[in-house]
Formats: sequence, structure tokens, C-alpha cells
Amino acid sequence: MNINAYALKRIVDSSVSKSGDDYIAKIPSMMSAQEQHLLFLLSRDYYSYEGKIIDAGHFLGSSTYSICAGLARQAGKQARQVFSYDLGIWYKGWTELLKKDGWLKFFELFPECYELGDLESFIPVYKRAIAEYIDLVNIRSGDLVQILETEGFNEKIEVLFLDLCKMPKINHATQKFFFGNLIPGKSVLIQQDFLCDSLPWLYINLGYFSDFFQFIGFVGSSAVYLFTREIPGNMLNTDCYYDLNLEEKEKCYDASLALVSNDYNYKLCRLAKLKMYHDFGETEKYSDLLREYENYPELQAALNSVIDRIGLGQYY
Ligand SMILES: C[S@@+](CC[C@H](N)C(=O)[O-])C[C@H]1O[C@@H](n2cnc3c(N)ncnc32)[C@H](O)[C@@H]1O
Repeated sequence: MNINAYALKRIVDSSVSKSGDDYIAKIPSMMSAQEQHLLFLLSRDYYSYEGKIIDAGHFLGSSTYSICAGLARQAGKQARQVFSYDLGIWYKGWTELLKKDGWLKFFELFPECYELGDLESFIPVYKRAIAEYIDLVNIRSGDLVQILETEGFNEKIEVLFLDLCKMPKINHATQKFFFGNLIPGKSVLIQQDFLCDSLPWLYINLGYFSDFFQFIGFVGSSAVYLFTREIPGNMLNTDCYYDLNLEEKEKCYDASLALVSNDYNYKLCRLAKLKMYHDFGETEKYSDLLREYENYPELQAALNSVIDRIGLGQYY
């Protein structure tokens, strides 16, 4: 095993077995303590200033904070190595969710969140949450696709944390602008949304590039990969969700699913095929899969929610 793959495997194993809140941001987060610990360990023990750290989808700042807390414990920390991206727009539904089931921990420490109106910017809350480390961060607020199409990204990337690939075009932009800057044998990709029921493009994309990444393991919903070799330029431009035919998409999708050994998680990730069949007018395949999933009582809630979102045209 490559020395960096070995180091990453140790970090993944230690994050999975993490308990307690030390080094975990006291910030409302959609990520588990284990995932935050993973980011902390990656930046403290693995990151070597060969490239930048991409923190894409920071929400209220727990990923940024975890990364920076690790960096701050390195000797010779440097400013603005972390590029943090987020649209920064609050959705009323988030407040409702929080009120309903206390979904996000530490929410009471940020009472201003309860005041945020629909579509209001949450960037001021984010800045307060990461104030301690703000000098380490290059805050890039706005639509990631637009920002990258306008500015590009021309620096080497050592840690690529993705937690915003909720639409195919966002997913494609991360591939087109970030994957070409990864360092073979060194860079690590953390795809936070891997264990999910509604993002089919993720699996197709990761399957398409499977020859260039070595899977290391799962931490929470996140899949962790070591980037192993340079990707040819023409592949970077392929929009896997739209450019591949159905057979190719299925093949890439199934290659990604092969990494999932837990039966429930496997079924959950495969459920996202409904969205793909719907998007490409594959009505027969859609109906067959739907019928199959009606026989899995443990997935009824997820199935209903996926069908509702497809009906409403919502991505996630
Ligand atoms: C699941 S949340 C991230 C959770 C966060 N990492 C945490 O630990 O709490 C996804 C984030 O992606 C952001 N997002 C969605 N679409 C985006 C886009 N087009 N450009 C930039 N950010 C986007 C949302 O604003 C949201 O904060």
C-alpha cells in the first residue's frame, strides 16, 4: 500500500472510532462528529502545504472550523490556504427542521439563525462561527459554478472536501475545475454526500474516474479517496451525467456502488437511480425499480421522500 494511502487509512479508522466532542466545532452542522474529526486530522496530520485545501459547502462553518483547528496545530501555519465556498443563502425550511427535531447540534449557540429569513445571507453567522481562524480562510461566497466559470481555479489542491454537489451542474464544475489540480499520490478527496438517496450523478462521476482514485473508506456519509494519477484533459470536460449513454452511466454507477458493503446503505445509494431514470425518461426502468423498493419496508420513508422531491422537481 502506498505510504499516503496507509496514512489516510489510519486517519479514516481513527475518525470512525472517534467519540466525544473534543476538537469538534461548537457550530450547528449537518456533518457527524466523526466527519468533522476526519477534516481536523487531515489538516493537522496529513496536509503538507503542497497545495490548497478546498472546503466546498461550508454552511455555518463546521467544516471550515474543523480544517482550521487542525491547521492551527501545525507548526508554521500559513494564512489563506483554505478556500471556502458556499452560496450562503438561508432556506426557511432549515429553521423549521431545526425547531422540529433539533437536527443540528449547538444551534442554541447561534440564536441569530432563528431570525434568518428565507433567502437571507447566512455569511455573517458563518464569519462569527469561524472568527478565531478567519485569517486562514479565503471566503468565496456565491454560486460555486458561477465563481469557477468566472475565476477558474489554478492552484494545486491537496485536500478536496466536497459537500455541495447537490445538482449535476455543481458536481460537474467541481470535476472540471478542481480535479485537474489534484496531486497524484498525495491529494485526498472527501465526497461528503456519498451515502445519500438522491444524488445519482455522484456515483456516475466517481465511477467514471475510478481508475484515478483509490477508495480508502467511509466516515459517516463521506467517502474518502486518494488521488493516484493525472486525469487526461478531455476526461475532465466530460459531463458524466449528460454526456454518457444510459449503459455507460449504469456501469459507472454500479462501480461506485460496489464500494458499499452495508446492505441498507447499498439500497439507499441505489435508490437514487430513480432520479436518474426519471431525468432521462426511462419510464420502464423507473417503474421496475419503484416496484422493487416497495418491498423494502426499511426504505419506505426514503422512497416516499425521493418520489416527493422528484415530483416537486427538487434536487435534494
Ligand atoms: C449540506 S450543506 C453543507 C453542510 C456543511 N458542510 C456542514 O457541515 O454543516 C450544503 C451547502 O451547499 C451550499 N450550496 C448549495 N448549492 C451551492 C452552489 N451552487 N454554490 C455554492 N454553495 C452551494 C448550501 O448553501 C449549503 O450550505
